[in-house]
Amino acid sequence: MRLMVANISEDGSRSRMLQGERKLSAPDYQVGDDEISLRERLRRGDAAAAREFYDAYSARIHRFILHALGPGNNADAEDILQDTFMALAEALPFFRGQSSLFTFACAIAHRKTVSFVRNRARRGELMRDHTAEVVRLIIEPPPDQDLKNALGSLSSEHREVLVLKYLEEMTVSEIASVLSMSEHAVESRLARARKALTKASIERGGEMKSQNSEAEISRRLKGLAHAKARQPRDLASRFAARLSEVASRPDVVPIRLCGEKLEARAGGTLLAAAVKNGVRVMHACGAQTLCATCRVKVTDGADNLTPMSLKEKVSLRYHLSMSSRVRLACQARVLGPVEVDAVFPLCGTLPREN
Ligand code: FES
Repeated sequence: MRLMVANISEDGSRSRMLQGERKLSAPDYQVGDDEISLRERLRRGDAAAAREFYDAYSARIHRFILHALGPGNNADAEDILQDTFMALAEALPFFRGQSSLFTFACAIAHRKTVSFVRNRARRGELMRDHTAEVVRLIIEPPPDQDLKNALGSLSSEHREVLVLKYLEEMTVSEIASVLSMSEHAVESRLARARKALTKASIERGGEMKSQNSEAEISRRLKGLAHAKARQPRDLASRFAARLSEVASRPDVVPIRLCGEKLEARAGGTLLAAAVKNGVRVMHACGAQTLCATCRVKVTDGADNLTPMSLKEKVSLRYHLSMSSRVRLACQARVLGPVEVDAVFPLCGTLPREN
């Protein structure tokens, strides 16, 4: 078990709380003027910008979901793509540009895919149904069949990281942002995924000229990039309509916090709403993601909160609350109606350590 060590500086703020914790830094990230302009137009609900974004990225997001789900899941991938674009329309007005728009969209697609796979596993359905894919392949055999089969045989986690790295050509830092992992964890997962892909390809009679050769894996995976996936009909216009509807919403949102009905500022944190309305929610570290005393249980509307940041995830993991139903009130921002209960419904600060 990790040792909690609260270092309190002269001004009394806690600078670090976990011994051995790796400093998590935001990825170095720069965008061009075109992307900044597109982001601003999307935030205003501009229909032309929605179409532009959709045309530029929907096929790549779709491909990412398809690969993450594995072969034979085309219909499910279409559903997840639709959910992703609707969630994206809700989240875009609050996107602050901490990553590229594509990385931001992939992070939403990743969460939707993980949630879909978990729900399906809970329902006890088979994780992989190859039948439809096999029928399609007999009719239309794709190039580099052994590699495609090998990729399909990997775990979803391995497929996902390989696709982001070699098909989407994301940096390790961008992948870390999509998957909410540290860069070190991404690098380890990539190494394991390359090894697994090489092994699976050789087992299927494929040729890998050298074991675990990154250049060869990269070149051959890029060859799979041309496979076309059918796009759901009308999704572009539904995305534009939702974006415009979200942009025109009033900037207050009704929420229920510890049983009390109140209004929160759209895009503001749950903690800010609690403080403003006099609801007692403990916040010992002052929103520094250090104490987790502001933990709340989400009883309804979890999708109406901004996605968990890496900092929030790390904080909750160290406090053994990794359920997606538990959030930090100081980090979770309100996008729509939501109901939450505080875990420690007390105001004030914890006693300082000597
Ligand atoms: S107030 Fe400390 S983590 Fe939210």
